[in-house]
Amino acid sequence: MSRFPTVRPRRLRRRGALRRMVAETRLDPSQLVLPMFVVAGEDVERPIRSMPGHAQLSVDRAVKVAAAAATRGVGGVILFGIPDEKDDIGSPAWDPDGPVPRALEALAAEVPALVRWADVCLCEYTSHGHCGPLSGETVDNDATLPLLARAAVAYAAAGADVVAPSDMMDGRVAALRAGLDDAGHDNIAICSYAVKYASAYYGPFRDAAGSTPSFGDRRSYQMDPPNRREARREALLDIDEGADMVMVKPAGPYLDIVSEVRRLVDVPIAAYQVSGEFSMIQAAAERDWIDRDRVMAESLIGIARAGADVILTYFATEAATMLQES
Ligand code: PBG
Ligand code: ZN
Repeated sequence: MSRFPTVRPRRLRRRGALRRMVAETRLDPSQLVLPMFVVAGEDVERPIRSMPGHAQLSVDRAVKVAAAAATRGVGGVILFGIPDEKDDIGSPAWDPDGPVPRALEALAAEVPALVRWADVCLCEYTSHGHCGPLSGETVDNDATLPLLARAAVAYAAAGADVVAPSDMMDGRVAALRAGLDDAGHDNIAICSYAVKYASAYYGPFRDAAGSTPSFGDRRSYQMDPPNRREARREALLDIDEGADMVMVKPAGPYLDIVSEVRRLVDVPIAAYQVSGEFSMIQAAAERDWIDRDRVMAESLIGIARAGADVILTYFATEAATMLQES
């Protein structure tokens, strides 16, 4: 008579080497992308209050932080620019001497191993903090498109490998693709923030980038959190317009969406563990309420397990260090 139970899943959990051998999901530092905030000037490092460990950096300092990330095997960086001056259409976004083009050039020269991503949006550059020029109190979708394309071309010219439009205007992937191709940048990839929800988890980022809208919110252009079918439509639309990769954002609260999009499309999927996800973990860890490193690792493996190929995360360097050591 056989003894019960004969099947014991615990047998494969007995020790670390065995668990690692049968792990179904693996994360490699090359999949991680570190977001950075760049400003003009030299030797500038302005800590961001709500994002411990992160700061607005001048290009020289940003290069050092990026080099440290590269040493740990981090795959890439994504740059956000904070200009000295803003205007109502966001024109500093395509200034070839702005912090983002300058940083892209410096990174290409000094840390060439990193994949260089440039976020494309106007909200850091507009005086009103919305993602494009206004018509009355709403963002003028079609007037925004050529401006985004100009910014993308400026970043491509400065050495971006990937441009990532985060504005959520309709038709912007096609506008960027056409603008890039016309300017001779047909080899530069587009990762669209295809599925970007109007999320309260962006709070700390808006501190970091000084991009809080001066009135209203972004709900008329970013997606409504209850919607899943719409995520499928957005992803397919952007791929149809020429996106080489699509992003889901935020990541942690939207893992069902990452999984859904993974099953739907064959292009690589990126997921953005946004500022609020990062800051909540940091804040709880500062109080000793959770084990920071373990929660960090668990949050990232969850995003990978849901189906993300690439993860944008403020933990990139620390997570890569942990992965190197284990
Ligand atoms: C700009 C942009 C935002 C983020 C990335 N690009 C903010 C927003 O849409 O308000 C959020 C990133 C984060 O919270 O870490 N369009
Ligand atoms: Zn924006």
